Amino acid sequence: MRSLKNILITGGAGFIGCNFIRTLLEKTPEFKGKIINLDVLTYAGNPASLKDVEDRFGGKRYFFERGNICTRDITEQVFKKYNIDTVVHFAAESHVDRSILGPEAFVKTNVTGTFTLLETARNCWSKDGAMRQDVLFHHISTDEVYGSLGGTGYFTETTPYDPRSPYSASKASSDHLVMAYNHTYGLPVTLSNCSNNYGPYQFPEKLIPLMILNMIEGKPLPVYGDGRNIRDWVYAEDHNRAVWTILNTGKTGEKYNIGGENEWENIQLLNTLIDIVSKKAGLDQAKVRETITYVKDRPGHDRRYAINCSKLKKELGWKQEVSFDDGLDKTVSWYLANKEWIEGIRSGEYKNWIEKNYGERRI
Ligand code: NAD
Ligand code: DAU
Repeated sequence: MRSLKNILITGGAGFIGCNFIRTLLEKTPEFKGKIINLDVLTYAGNPASLKDVEDRFGGKRYFFERGNICTRDITEQVFKKYNIDTVVHFAAESHVDRSILGPEAFVKTNVTGTFTLLETARNCWSKDGAMRQDVLFHHISTDEVYGSLGGTGYFTETTPYDPRSPYSASKASSDHLVMAYNHTYGLPVTLSNCSNNYGPYQFPEKLIPLMILNMIEGKPLPVYGDGRNIRDWVYAEDHNRAVWTILNTGKTGEKYNIGGENEWENIQLLNTLIDIVSKKAGLDQAKVRETITYVKDRPGHDRRYAINCSKLKKELGWKQEVSFDDGLDKTVSWYLANKEWIEGIRSGEYKNWIEKNYGERRI
């Protein structure tokens, strides 16, 4: 029986992690434990995304530690200080374009960081030479490890890995390490590969928030290549409920695909987004559409991702709950209502505030 009492979330100040923490503490009454958020606060990590959680649960059921997952003494101290029995490993460099411009940080955090956490778990969870089995290391990964699809077909859990960007190659490496630790050392692990997430608190370098903000600010809407690349979109809260389901009932040593079963060409999605934003923000739809700008393609741009998540549905009973219409509506409303959060992460004030409040590291 898994303990799920003291859960270490890595990267909990990022987009999906902060939504996961909020969902667990505010909307999951069956979860009675504590959450420890270990995050180094890169450009993508923002404690302001968890201010409400900190106010309500801070020091009681929510604890923040600033630290790098690549630094073994930090990960060991956190494990021991909080008697960690579960890891949900979100922390990563997550943006494909950045991985093309500067792959080193991706190898460091995604490969070495995951390795460091695995070593920490292996050490802290071994007792008298035997590996504890009431613990769990859940690794959050991506559908991009499977490569790119043509017009037909889907990624299943048995699709061979074929990563094609530095980002996806680093995530694929981390997936292999996680599975190897299960196979070799008996470390109890589960792994999930998810498609494109969207929702509140996403850093505005990713397609949906970038386009929403550019529309509001009257800036060009940059479409890579011919705009016909396809992504499968899932609302972050649906992803996170899937992760919670796996933590509770997933089989140790297994991997599960998570997806929206919701494929869109980028240009189709952008046109839909223009309709929603124009209506909500009182913009002239035709004028906004004129700002669509086709730009140079991303090098090695994967053409199509499409997830088959029937294993998760059939074996663990999960299903998506938020339709794309509702999810986009909520997301656009959130960005329109949270100008302070947006200004915060864009301004230098954000970094100064972090240094003042969180220092170099707290543990
Ligand atoms: P994000 O970029 O918004 O957040 C990443 C978080 O990790 C930030 O808070 C950052 O400060 C932290 N971090 C980075 N390097 C760190 C380090 N060395 N030590 C400690 N903390 C560090 O990412 P996201 O979009 O929330 O993605 C979270 C996870 O989900 C990633 O593993 C990503 O690969 C995976 N994923 C993302 C998507 C998506 O669409 N965003 C889809 C599938 C899988
Ligand atoms: O598939 C899961 C992955 O989805 C995650 O593992 C990654 O962490 C996450 O960043 C995301 O990767 P993508 O590269 O698919 O997401 P992004 O938002 O960068 O781009 C989505 C699509 O939109 C992609 O085909 C590129 C295109 N695009 C993106 C941007 C930022 C544009 O056409 N214009 C843009 O300005």
